[in-house]
Parts: sequence; C-alpha cells; structure tokens
Amino acid sequence: MTYNEEMRSLTAEIRGKEHVNILSLETSCDETAAAVVQDGRVIRSNIVFSQIDLHALYGGVVPEIASRAHVEACDRVIDEALRAAGMTAQEIDACAVTYGPGLVGALLTGVSCMKGYSYALRKPLIPVNHIEGHIAANYLSHPDLKPPFLCLVVSGGHSHLVRVEDYGVYTLIGQTTDDAAGEAFDKAARILGLPYPGGPRIDALAEEGNPHYLQLPNPHTEGRYDYSFSGLKTAFINACHRMEQRGETLPKADLAASFREAVVSMLVEKAMLAVDENPELAPAIALAGGVSANRELRRRMQAACDRRGLPLYMPELQLCGDNGAMIGSAAYYRLMRGEIADLTLNAVPALRLVERRTVHG
Ligand code: KG4
Ligand code: ZN
Repeated sequence: MTYNEEMRSLTAEIRGKEHVNILSLETSCDETAAAVVQDGRVIRSNIVFSQIDLHALYGGVVPEIASRAHVEACDRVIDEALRAAGMTAQEIDACAVTYGPGLVGALLTGVSCMKGYSYALRKPLIPVNHIEGHIAANYLSHPDLKPPFLCLVVSGGHSHLVRVEDYGVYTLIGQTTDDAAGEAFDKAARILGLPYPGGPRIDALAEEGNPHYLQLPNPHTEGRYDYSFSGLKTAFINACHRMEQRGETLPKADLAASFREAVVSMLVEKAMLAVDENPELAPAIALAGGVSANRELRRRMQAACDRRGLPLYMPELQLCGDNGAMIGSAAYYRLMRGEIADLTLNAVPALRLVERRTVHG
C-alpha cells in the first residue's frame, strides 16, 4: 500500500474512533508551538516557545532568524508537548501543521518537520490555516460554542470579520483595507519607544491614560463593514512628531490610551453595525487572534453584546496569541471531514481563509 492509500484508510478508521488525539505544530511567525488536543476540544498539552527575545533586539520579527530558531526548537517543543500530554508519538492519531498564512521560511520549517513525523509515524497529516486556528481557540475555551457565529479575527497580520457558517465554512463580512489591527498597535508602540511586540505594552500603558487626549480621524472605507488603520496610524505619528518638534515630552499613557480608543472603537463599531443591519448574521459573536487579548476591546465588546443580549465568546488569554492547541482544534474538524494532505504539502504564505467577499457590506 502506498503512503497515500494507507493514510486515507487510516483516516476513515480514525473518524470512527471514540477519542482522537492530534499532535499539532505552529511555526507561522515567531512562536514555535506544539500541542496535543483531544477531540478538538480538550487540551492535553500546549507548549509555546516564544522567540520574542531574539527579535526584540531588532524591533520586529526578522524572518531569517525566525526560520532558524524554528528549526532548532521544533523537535524539542514537540517532545515536550508529548511528554506533558503523557503520550508517546505512536499513541497519537494524526499530525497537524499550520501551512499558511505567515512567513514563508517559518512555515516551511514546520511543514517539513510535520511531514517527517507523519511519514515516519504513519499518521495522517492535516494542513491547517492559521486564521482558522485562531477562530478554533474559542472551541477550546468554550466547549458549548458551535457554528454559526460571527467572529472578529484581529491579529498581527489579519483583521477580518467572518461568519463561521459551519466548521471550516466561512463567509467574509469585512476586512482591513490596509494594516492589521495588531500591526497598527505595534507601529504606534514603536513611535512611543516601547519595545516589540508593542500591542500588549500600549494596552497596559493605556490603562493609566486619558483616551480623549488626542482626537484621531474616523477613516472612511468603501465596504461598510471594512476596517482601515493606516490613516489613524499616520495621524498618530504626525501628532507625536509635532510634539517632539515643539520639545514637549510625549504623554505616553495618554497617547497610548487615545490610540487604543480609536482602534477599539472602530473594531467594535463596525462589528456592531454589521450585527445591527443583519441580525441573522450573529446568533453569537466571538473574538480571535492576538489582539483579542486587548483589555479595552474585551470590555467594549462585552458591553456592546450585553446591550443587544448577544452571547460573546472570547478565548482565554493564553489562547489569544499563537499556540499549537488552536491548530490541533481546527485540525480535528478537518480530519473529521477527511481533509488530509499528502507529502507534496507546501507552505502558502498568502493563504486566505475565504477567497472573496460573498455577501453583505
Ligand atoms: O495572533 P498573533 O499572536 O500573531 C499573528 O497571527 O499575527 O497576534 C500578534 C499581534 C501583535 O501585533 C501584538 O502586538 C498584538 O497581537 N497584541 C495585542 C495585545 N496582545 C497582543 N494588541 C493589543 N493589545 C493587546 N493586549
Ligand atoms: Zn496568529
């Protein structure tokens, strides 16, 4: 039997099992992360090795350094995930890996590594979209959450409003037309002299500041439910430069609070506009991605959903950023649909979750 035939018949067998344990690997950016997840919902282990210290020196992720660090860390992180789950490699049912979107070298490292595990262990290989993984983090934090729901995905590379129609079926409702929300936070943080990654630092500093100190523009977008952050960012940078030219000390907490206020207002307002104009979209709302750890975003979304009597789901804080468990959760539902890859699987740096906007906005 060829590898492909063997994997197809194994997949059919696994789908009939009472419990399915997936070993997953995530290397799309600057975290080398591995996990063992049972039945898409139960975290048996979740090991994240962050490269932040390596990149902070340069003020951002250096792709070449990220790839090399992933090569060095992959096997160790996988071993640790298996050990923490109390399982041997043979006891897992399938291998999953993020194959896009992300940095090509970083993705390739993970894809090659997991192909090796799949071939050597004779376990099916499941390819996972990183954004789908972020959405699936909610399945781990909320065992009762099932599609359909509306999900605001906000990370370093992506800002999307999608309707999760079913497991693996998405409709694009809105998206950023320029920067991602996390990217905007990171750039604003850099202007304030805060180290990488700036998002969490701006968030912490903003807690002490006046959110109405600086009025930032409300950008126009063509799509009603789209986002745009570059105008905000430029206005913010210009305001900071003007203050510096006048020899003023930057009131960092007030500036951080004002920037956070502008970004969060746009995220919440657009999501709620979509909900109010199309109530059928959202029996429930979820947040996903690194920026969903933002305190003000969590508070404001909670308040907006409470006002409308809508259930809001947010990943617990340690599952908001990149991790392996979210990939293992998304992989489970792919495996149940028989979506496995063969050994020609490649990294797809610009992989999309939904091909194009299909309805609304
Ligand atoms: O999802 P993620 O870990 O990686 C990507 O897929 O991009 O998101 C990382 C992004 C970074 O831009 C980081 O600054 C931002 O999420 N972030 C935050 C917060 N925590 C992480 N931004 C604002 N507030 C936070 N608390
Ligand atoms: Zn991510």
